[in-house]
Amino acid sequence: MRSAPPDLPELPNSVYQLVDYGNGRKLEEFSGVLVDRPSPVAVGAPVTKLWHRADGRFDLQENHRGVWAWERKLGAWQLATPFGQMELFPTDFGHLGVFAEQLTHWKWLTTLPLAGVRLLNLFAYTGGASLAAAKAGATVTHVDSAKNMVRRASHNAHISQLADRPIRWIVEDALKFVTRESRRGNQYDGIILDPPTYGHGVSGKSIWKIDEQLPELFQRLREIVPLCRLMLYTCHSRGFTPAFMKQNIAGFRVREKSQSGPMFLQATDGRKLASGNFVRWFQS
Ligand SMILES: C[S@@+](CC[C@H](N)C(=O)[O-])C[C@H]1O[C@@H](n2cnc3c(N)ncnc32)[C@H](O)[C@@H]1O
Repeated sequence: MRSAPPDLPELPNSVYQLVDYGNGRKLEEFSGVLVDRPSPVAVGAPVTKLWHRADGRFDLQENHRGVWAWERKLGAWQLATPFGQMELFPTDFGHLGVFAEQLTHWKWLTTLPLAGVRLLNLFAYTGGASLAAAKAGATVTHVDSAKNMVRRASHNAHISQLADRPIRWIVEDALKFVTRESRRGNQYDGIILDPPTYGHGVSGKSIWKIDEQLPELFQRLREIVPLCRLMLYTCHSRGFTPAFMKQNIAGFRVREKSQSGPMFLQATDGRKLASGNFVRWFQS
């Protein structure tokens, strides 16, 4: 019989760490706060005994919403990222304002020579990719249909000392915005997008369904990005494999070869937890 892996002596002290996962849950450390959340892909058994030390636990109830239980009072809570700080905040969906599998892409963005590059970030959430690109010199148009998320993104720009960077904050449905930009003849040099499976337009007025609207979105994007120097396309929807995602973006004018593959969070013991897929390239 194999012996159980040894317990970790101490919690890892990095700013983000997937500490452990298994039995449909993951245990993560965000800036010293240990969080235990559901994760449908967390198959297998956990390997540590650290779970009882979680500061916060989220349990799903219905309609993808749930409740948090905290062992200690949370004060101001921020995560250090490659471009600055992001505020963390627990939501009814069990999210914290940062999807940690994106950290590696944000780091990549900060290393690129993006001075003067005009980027469009769609489904841009709390601004991680917008701020990383802006830090590297890009001019960014940040689009998300949720007003409170755009407000949080702009707040993250402030606490990251990036408030003076050329970022346009737009609360709009992604497809509507891109269609309007095409009509106006406005153009961009690159695209960042992380489309959800389902979503809402502004104030819930329209519904976003990836299967129905993504082809049209890419069609419109081809019109406004005549030469696509930067692409960062990530997706967590079922069936969106790297090969399928590459097909989605065939037809963009590009000279660089793309990188693509699975995204994952690596646990302290080296195991990898699947977290969607990506395709990206950059041409200087
Ligand atoms: C998974 S999050 C993106 C996460 C982001 N890539 C990051 O890690 O910072 C999806 C975002 O899409 C937004 N959204 C959903 N439907 C939308 C729509 N029709 N138009 C624009 N944004 C939409 C949501 O408000 C949410 O902020």
